[in-house]
Amino acid sequence: MTFQLDQFRLDGKVAVVTGAGGRGNSIGRAYALGLAAAGAAVVVADLNEAGAIAVADEIRASGGRAIGVGVDVADERATLAMASAATQAFGGIDILVNNAALMVDISYDSCETVSLDAWNRAFAVNLNGALLCSRAVIPSMRARGGGRIVNQTSGGAFPATGLYGITKLALVGLTTSLAKQFGKDAITCNAIAPGNVTSDAGKALVPDDSPFIKFLEMACATHARGTPDELVGTLLLLCSPAGEWITGQTIHVDGGWVLRP
Ligand SMILES: NC(=O)c1ccc[n+]([C@@H]2O[C@H](COP(=O)([O-])OP(=O)(O)OC[C@H]3O[C@@H](n4cnc5c(N)ncnc54)[C@H](O)[C@@H]3O)[C@@H](O)[C@H]2O)c1
Repeated sequence: MTFQLDQFRLDGKVAVVTGAGGRGNSIGRAYALGLAAAGAAVVVADLNEAGAIAVADEIRASGGRAIGVGVDVADERATLAMASAATQAFGGIDILVNNAALMVDISYDSCETVSLDAWNRAFAVNLNGALLCSRAVIPSMRARGGGRIVNQTSGGAFPATGLYGITKLALVGLTTSLAKQFGKDAITCNAIAPGNVTSDAGKALVPDDSPFIKFLEMACATHARGTPDELVGTLLLLCSPAGEWITGQTIHVDGGWVLRP
């Protein structure tokens, strides 16, 4: 079939975005708004239920379809309840964006000193959360003839230099595994690896006057910092018919910080 621009549209699709309600200017919120603008009904899911409902309200106020649900992605029963809420509201699930993560509230202690509790909680949310949410939605995707899973990793995993990066590199392993195991069900799985993003959380972690920004300005091929909106086009490619043949990939959206052949 000749390529049509509307292959980027998501009309009639149902998307679940985790970690989309926690902070004012967040990547998850930008993803949820972008998916809704492309025509999808969106389940905005977050530990912060009130924040999730607020983002869903924002989508509905601009003419979209959305619900907000509270979920702890590290809790299997909660992820199953999230999937049920999505199916009850919109009939099933076609797209899952595993965006929820600990990034600011994570231990930056060394591997020698980090507590095992902090280590386990980081993996429970950043890795196991993506596994549990994927398992909760795959039956619905399969029943609907296919689906899209997008895992939010990070440039900070290339290479990993601490707990956060280690969890995000492990998420890349989950990405290639899901891609291989569910490809024949027409379920694709890819990852987005952003560079430094000026979400509220990103700015809390790396303030404007941080020496890391100076380093990034030298390291990046183009500009060092991106906005949440600069990630949305890549997400829509991976979630839409236009990206049907892409799976198992990690796409770096970072101004050329991490250059990979
Ligand atoms: N901001 C950056 O510079 C940057 C760069 C690379 C990758 N990322 C990744 O992008 C994603 C979003 O980042 P952000 O900057 O918008 O940060 P953010 O802190 O605003 O978003 C993370 C969200 O996850 C939610 N969350 C945390 N634990 C949860 C749990 N157990 N269950 C459900 N929800 C939970 C939080 O409430 C929050 O809303 C994260 O995966 C982060 O690691 C961010």
